[in-house]
Amino acid sequence: MTTSSPDAVRRLRDDVVGRGLVAGLPAAFLAGITRFGQPPRAELDALAAEVDGLAGRLASGAVHGGDLPLLTRVLYLAGQADLLAVHGVLSPMYDLLGGFRDNLARPLGPRQPGRPTAGTRRWPLLGRRIGFPIGVPACVLNGSEAWVRHNVANGWNVLTYKTVRGRAHPPNEQPNWVFAARETASLPPGADADVVADPWDWVPPGSPEVSSVNSFGVPSPEPEEWMADLERALQAVGDEQLLLVSVMGEDADGTGRVADLAADFARTALMAQEAGASVVELNLSCPNTLDRTASGVKPPLCLDPGATVTVVDTVRRALDDRTGLVAKLSWLDEPRLSALVPELASLVDGIAGINTVQSRVRRRDGTPTFPGRELAGLSGIAVREPALDFTRRLVALRDAGGAPFDVLAMGGVTDTASFEALFGLGADAVQSAAGAFADPFLAAACVAELGTTLPRAVEAP
Ligand SMILES: Cc1cc2nc3c(=O)[nH]c(=O)nc-3n(C[C@H](O)[C@H](O)[C@H](O)COP(=O)(O)O)c2cc1C
Repeated sequence: MTTSSPDAVRRLRDDVVGRGLVAGLPAAFLAGITRFGQPPRAELDALAAEVDGLAGRLASGAVHGGDLPLLTRVLYLAGQADLLAVHGVLSPMYDLLGGFRDNLARPLGPRQPGRPTAGTRRWPLLGRRIGFPIGVPACVLNGSEAWVRHNVANGWNVLTYKTVRGRAHPPNEQPNWVFAARETASLPPGADADVVADPWDWVPPGSPEVSSVNSFGVPSPEPEEWMADLERALQAVGDEQLLLVSVMGEDADGTGRVADLAADFARTALMAQEAGASVVELNLSCPNTLDRTASGVKPPLCLDPGATVTVVDTVRRALDDRTGLVAKLSWLDEPRLSALVPELASLVDGIAGINTVQSRVRRRDGTPTFPGRELAGLSGIAVREPALDFTRRLVALRDAGGAPFDVLAMGGVTDTASFEALFGLGADAVQSAAGAFADPFLAAACVAELGTTLPRAVEAP
């Protein structure tokens, strides 16, 4: 099962031909490419010529191993990602052309034939002993029971159910998620990013240099819907895994009062607890500030230390003592982080970070990549250095303080070395969003390479 296998291409070819798909592939691919905008004419013509050539080779049987990257892109954009999965070929896990709702029920990408494990080795996390400590953070890749099952099957053990709210909230208009193909290296910590990304940009699945930008608007189903789904998702998780639940409050009546925001956070956290969550993660790092003067996309709440502590304290008091609490932060500079963490340490069981880095995102023609929204969240390799810097400082603050908490580190984990780097800094678990999106088998690769050697393992209970 490798992405360069000529066997995979031959099997895919036979399937595509057998299903009578070849003739329609070029048009379906070009419809996908142009779904959210028109590439420059020369680029579109070149893509059309490539897909026509591929269709010819598929029809004649002349396809070869080197065709796999193009065949993958064509099938994915033509709405045939399931075929890739059937033949064990990597594809992005989420359908970028589909809506948030369509994607909720339908993870894409292949599954491992057996769940990858590190045998009887376990790692301590939030009072439990879990399998190999890699997971997928709060994002659309953990938006429903179906996704949780899919991720568990592929060896991801630390899953955070996508941020939900105390009332239904629609997603932003599509596109919501785009590859940032030009961001192939990390920004320095604290740098402002100015990203150029077109909706038809592509990064081959499995690339460790993947970055992406997203603008979903933290959508949420109705509580009745997500609570029922969450209950089922929690059932799908075994002793080796942990499913946290990310929640976010809002100032729905626009009072501007921190107490109202905190009360809504607590109300939503209690819903998650009622549905069975044993650990609640507070999303303090999406655009949810009370700053009503901020235009368009607001800054994250964690930039306001007073409001952040009030929210976390209010939720801690509302939840059952047995329910774990995690605060998720954005990258913060040293004065902000070292002021906030000691205040949070006695209230939480864990601190997670970093979230995406808010960035100005434009198409090559200068228009916003996400119409009507100038800012979007950058993640993947582009935020690796900020994540390393944040984790290093967070671990140092934990070690220097009197109230220990666990660290859930994320940001720029796209290969085994970047997993190992964050874990090596002292994180208790490491999660990957953009990396998992581009390579659903990344957890399996980490387990295969590090399962017997990763330090800090304990005996299975
Ligand atoms: C498409 C997408 C949606 C996300 N949605 C959420 C969310 O709902 N709540 C949240 O706390 N973080 C969200 N995040 C942020 C991720 O959990 C993570 O903090 C960030 O992407 C950095 O990790 P990465 O570099 O591995 O992508 C989202 C990220 C992506 C890519």
